Amino acid sequence: MSYKNSSKDSDKDSEETSYYKYHVFFCTNQRADGSQCCEQYKSKEMRDYAKKCSKEKGLVRSGKVRINTAGCLNRCEHGPVLVIYPEATWYTWVDKEDIDEIIESHLVNDKPVERLKIKDV
Ligand code: FES
Repeated sequence: MSYKNSSKDSDKDSEETSYYKYHVFFCTNQRADGSQCCEQYKSKEMRDYAKKCSKEKGLVRSGKVRINTAGCLNRCEHGPVLVIYPEATWYTWVDKEDIDEIIESHLVNDKPVERLKIKDV
């Protein structure tokens, strides 16, 4: 299953396709030296929580959403971070309520969560 993104360009050949409607990458990088990294904020636990919630909402089964683990995304100063493609929307989060809002607003209702976006993208 693939999803076509809407395009202002009417030329069908220029439309981009994405296998998943939304592909979510959680940075779960952990540094042995104790320097800043996303796993300091329990990002693996939050990734698992996001997977569980997406499954419960039927997003995974429908093929609309895939949630994956990423190593360092080189945005450590904004951590913890996740990014959602195909739009490359970068988020930071604090707790499960933030993850709930990203899932419900962005993944279910196609509305990015402005307050959680990393601003300098
Ligand atoms: S450790 Fe997460 S972006 Fe670098």
